[in-house]
Amino acid sequence: MIKTAVLGATGFVGQRFVQLLETHPWFEVTLLGASERSAGKPYAEACHWLLDSPMPDALKDLPVVECSPEKIRDVDLVFSALPGNLAGPLEAKLAQKGLKIVSKASAHRMEDDVPLIVPEVNPGHLALIGVQQERRGWAGFISTDPNCSTVPLAMALKPLMKYDVQRVHVATLQGLSGAGYPGVASLDALGNVVPFIAGEEEKVQTECVKLLGTLNGDSIQTAGIEVSASCNRVPVVEGHMENVFVEFQSEVSVNQIKKDWATFDHMHHPKLPSAQKPIQYLEQENRPQHRLDVMAGNGMTTTIGRLREDGPRRVKFTLLSHNTIRGAAGNGILHAELLKHKGLV
Ligand SMILES: NC(=O)c1ccc[n+]([C@@H]2O[C@H](COP(=O)([O-])OP(=O)(O)OC[C@H]3O[C@@H](n4cnc5c(N)ncnc54)[C@H](OP(=O)(O)O)[C@@H]3O)[C@@H](O)[C@H]2O)c1
Repeated sequence: MIKTAVLGATGFVGQRFVQLLETHPWFEVTLLGASERSAGKPYAEACHWLLDSPMPDALKDLPVVECSPEKIRDVDLVFSALPGNLAGPLEAKLAQKGLKIVSKASAHRMEDDVPLIVPEVNPGHLALIGVQQERRGWAGFISTDPNCSTVPLAMALKPLMKYDVQRVHVATLQGLSGAGYPGVASLDALGNVVPFIAGEEEKVQTECVKLLGTLNGDSIQTAGIEVSASCNRVPVVEGHMENVFVEFQSEVSVNQIKKDWATFDHMHHPKLPSAQKPIQYLEQENRPQHRLDVMAGNGMTTTIGRLREDGPRRVKFTLLSHNTIRGAAGNGILHAELLKHKGLV
């Protein structure tokens, strides 16, 4: 088993990592990191558990460790679910020390030599790890996951790139857990929609073109697509819905797109433990819906519906994805499985 740390283990995403790793065949959680407030306390005491399965018994008594470079040790793999401002310097110090880091935080995502990975979309971008290690003289590395609303958008667009995508407009309806815990104040959230999520639109717009870009020697040539996002917080707990409008340069039919989504399969390598069918398309006119579809494929499948023509060489559709599983811990674990498969962990 690969000894694994979860940093930010008491937060929403950290708890998802702990939950999804409980029975993982390759990764065993042996270190839980959080803030000074939690450090030294048993995990069961430090963590306000929010998930619908019990906290794993094996971790209840494990003392939480402060996230300093000295204290994060004796592990091979680190899942980082820390706030972005803390993750930046800490992850760099840990990678320098030789640790292999899969990060959910935004700090390093857009750096030239740092991979930004959705395993089904751009597995080849992991080649940047060698570039990063050589350039920075690090024994370890940082490999990052995108923002939670970018993950399913890139999954939906990847099979359509062959039709020369020109422009993508997206309006999101994002669940509350995307803001972490305690997140949005209940009086702002309940029975309400907030048409602003700090930093989110910029992340969707920049991360999407990196993910859909091409590896060119030792850097990524970003995709030449114009992406415009408008992000809204809505009062559901889990799940991000996105209304997507795409303009192509080439002709394409809705039937062809449905076939492309149905056959969009995977990373061209053997099945990894967390892999599920990446995309399902539902024909019912009132789907996807949060309550019915957010757990498709154990929360790893992006559900798409309502695909229709929207003028010449334009289509629109609606997608739904589980933000703390596919958009966060689930994508991170699949990413680490791919790293192990490639011999990088
Ligand atoms: N929520 C999502 O859907 C989602 C999706 C994709 C990416 N992300 C990213 O994932 C990261 C975690 O998000 P979250 O939603 O899980 O946030 P969260 O619920 O607010 O959890 C934050 C975690 O960071 C720890 N932390 C806070 N200050 C710290 C400090 N000074 N030193 C060490 N640890 C500290 C907290 O520990 P204490 O309990 O001890 O304070 C907690 O474990 C963020 O970078 C976020 O942008 C989130």
